[in-house]
This record gives sequence, structure tokens and C-alpha cells, in this order.
Amino acid sequence: MNKKPGYVFVWPISTRLIHWMMAFSFTAAFFTSFHEHLLHEHVALGFIFMIIILYRIIWGVIGPRYATFNTFKLKPSELKHYFVEKIENRWRKIPAGHNPASSWYTVWAIIVGTVIAVSGLLLYGIQEAKGIFRFLNDDYTHCISLLEWIHHYGSYLFFAWVVIHITGVLIEQFWHRTGMVFAMITGYKRTEGEDTEVRPVLSFFAYMMIFLAVGTYFLIVSSNYNFLTLQKYTNIDYKQVDPLYHEKCADCHILYPPYLLPEKSWVRVMGGLRNHFGEEITESNITRAQQASILVFLRANAAENSRREAAVKVMDSLGELRPKAITKTPYWRETHKAIPRSAYQNEKIKDKSNCVACHKDFERGNLDDMNIIFRD
Ligand code: HEC
Ligand code: HEC
Repeated sequence: MNKKPGYVFVWPISTRLIHWMMAFSFTAAFFTSFHEHLLHEHVALGFIFMIIILYRIIWGVIGPRYATFNTFKLKPSELKHYFVEKIENRWRKIPAGHNPASSWYTVWAIIVGTVIAVSGLLLYGIQEAKGIFRFLNDDYTHCISLLEWIHHYGSYLFFAWVVIHITGVLIEQFWHRTGMVFAMITGYKRTEGEDTEVRPVLSFFAYMMIFLAVGTYFLIVSSNYNFLTLQKYTNIDYKQVDPLYHEKCADCHILYPPYLLPEKSWVRVMGGLRNHFGEEITESNITRAQQASILVFLRANAAENSRREAAVKVMDSLGELRPKAITKTPYWRETHKAIPRSAYQNEKIKDKSNCVACHKDFERGNLDDMNIIFRD
């Protein structure tokens, strides 16, 4: 006997939460991805998304009626029939569980979602040198472009998928009048079939997964230093690592971490000290031996010898170019093109080479996205 005459209870709260948490975490992760300084939020939302997908996969095996994969209608003939009927008949019967289109939809969402989640986690480890996969940063930076490609286009595909899904639901709602919009809110569909029931042990599992997803979110946004967010690189005290570089080259301006330019650029900078951006630096300022020693340090720590994200990306962007300034690298220009000129009129910034005004801990070699300071 159904609880509500004429209606079937199809989606219990545990299944509805999967749906809405997936929808919310994906949308929020999608939009935070356009802002580097929101990386933590992005990653934390990505974790919700990933855990919910895992939960959905398990739910598809052990879950209640209508949610399990064996009730999915995946035969191409069923899909064809579904669309033919949809076009021909405005009023038609709908199945209690997944129809052929939503069966296919869910399978694809799980597959593409998994690809997005895994590539994101790998990128976080390899590119940002953060999280549980930070150890992969040592050897796999050559995979960054491919992973980025997969992660970006996977997300666009998923986004397009979401738009199609919403369109389909709206057509059901307003043309076929099946009340589809409310099914995922109240759990009821106006159709025939038996109500679903969730055993207590399954409910317990469902709430544990949701708790895990939400807990992980807060764990990530709350700290930059736990096992899910820790970066492989720690702040560098250049004064200790190379006192001479610190003394001679961080005198007129801020200290530039050597990994931001390739060896040949440093050779050019050090070879051209007589005319250093309009300043004349002579041997009375920095002796020949000191210059040679500084150059050894700069070369040893230059971009091609570092696996940091900025170093790898500077190298990728340079091609044959070996500019004398970081601000002349295509990578720097690209990452800063959205910053209006007027920003540099701010008293605290003044100059685009004053990196430390916008990147906290810059002089300690730290270019973590979390450290970007916003000023208008
Ligand atoms: C006498 C002052 C002075 C000293 C000493 C000095 N610089 Fe500079 N440097 C400047 C000026 C001025 C600029 C150009 C304005 C700016 O970007 O701050 C500059 C710019 C730079 C830039 C380009 C920054 C960018 O925009 O990307 C680099 C790299 C650099 N210096 C490296 C060095 C190194 C390495 C040393 C030590 C050997 C050094 N500088 C010592 C005055 C100095
Ligand atoms: C006016 C503030 C400002 C100044 C000055 C500035 N940056 Fe940035 N930088 C930003 C912002 C904002 C972003 C993030 C852009 C985005 O969201 O894509 C950024 C991004 C970057 C990135 C890319 C980070 C990533 O993970 O994608 C690097 C590398 C970087 N800056 C290096 C530098 C260096 C080196 C200097 C000095 C030569 C510098 N920045 C000067 C504001 C600034």
C-alpha cells in the first residue's frame, strides 16, 4: 500500500541528498575554479563531489529500490522508444524509477564525474605539490598539461550535461506535466509502482558518507597544513640559504626567488649589471667573485631545476625566450593580465615588480594560491 494515493515514493532523503549535494558541489566548484585564490574552496568542494560520487556508486549496488544499477534501462532500443514516445505524446506514463534517458545520464555523470575528481586530485598533488599526492610532484610535472586538459574539458562536458538535464526536467514539468521538478524535492512521483524503503543500516551508511563529505570540506578549508592540504615545499629563508644573494640582490628591491627565471636569464641578468634596469651596479658594489658566487646559486635553483608550479609554467611559456625580468615572461603576463593598471597606483603596490604586495611570503619562495592578497 502506498503512503500517498496516486503517488510513488521513489527517492528517499538519502538519494535526494546525493543528487543535491552533487549538484551543489559541482556548480560551486565550477565557479570557484576561475579564481586562483579560491583554490581551497574549489578543492574542498571537489572532495564533496568525489565522496558523493563514491557514495552513489556504492548506492547503485547496495542501495534501495529504484536507485540500484540493475534497475537502469540502458538498452539503446529503450532509449529510442523513450524519445519517440516523448515526442509523440504529450500525456504519457512515466516509470517510477529511472527512465532510459536518466539511466544513461546517471551512468555518464558518474563516469565523467570520476574522471574530473581523479584528475583534480592528481593536479593538486602534481601541480600544486599539495595533498595526499604531493609526492608525485617530483617526477610527473610533464603530465600537468594533459591533466589540466582532461580536468577542464571534463568539467565543461559535465556542465553541458547539467544544462541538458535541467532542460529535460523542465520539458517534463511544463510540457508533459509530470511534476518532475518536485520528484527530487519531495521524493514522490505521480505514477504507478511500489514505495521504496530504506533499511536502517543503509540509512546509517548514507549519513556516514554525507558526514564524511561535509567533514572533509571543513577539514580542507580550515587549514593549509593538514594531510589533505599540506604542501611539499616549505618557506625558504634565503638569508640563511645564500646570505650573499640576500644581502646584495634584495637591497634595492624585493628578493626574487631564483626558480622564477631560467638559467640563461640569470646569466643575462648577472652579465648586464652595468646597466641593470637603468641602475649601474659595479664591482665596487658587488665584486666579481661575489657575482660569480651569486650566479652559481641562481643557476642551481633556476626554473628548469625546480618542480614548483610557477617554475614549470614559466618554462613552458618561454619557448626560446630568455628575458631578464620575470614580468617579461609570457606566463607572468598571462596570469596578471586581468589586473587593471590602476591597481598599481595603490600606495602599497606601486609597481608590478613589487610581487610581495600581492603575494604574501613571496620573499620566502612561497607562491601558494592561498597567499594571494586582494586589494582594490
Ligand atoms: C642598485 C639597485 C639594485 C640592485 C643592487 C639590484 N637591483 Fe635588480 N633591479 C633594480 C631596479 C631599479 C629594477 C627595475 C625596477 C623593478 O623592477 O623593481 C630591478 C629589476 C630586477 C629584476 C626584474 C624584476 C621583474 O620585474 O621581473 C630582476 C630579476 C633583478 N632586478 C635581479 C637582481 C639581482 C639578481 C640582483 C643582485 C645581483 C639585483 N637585481 C640587484 C635595481 C637593483
Ligand atoms: C597587483 C597584485 C599583484 C602583483 C604586484 C603581482 N601579482 Fe602575481 N598574481 C596576482 C593575482 C591576483 C594572481 C591570481 C590571478 C588569477 O586568479 O588567475 C596572481 C598570480 C600569480 C601567479 C600564478 C599563481 C598560480 O598558481 O596560478 C604567479 C606565479 C605570480 N602571480 C607571480 C608573481 C610575481 C613573480 C610577481 C612580481 C614580479 C607578481 N606575481 C606580482 C596578483 C599580483
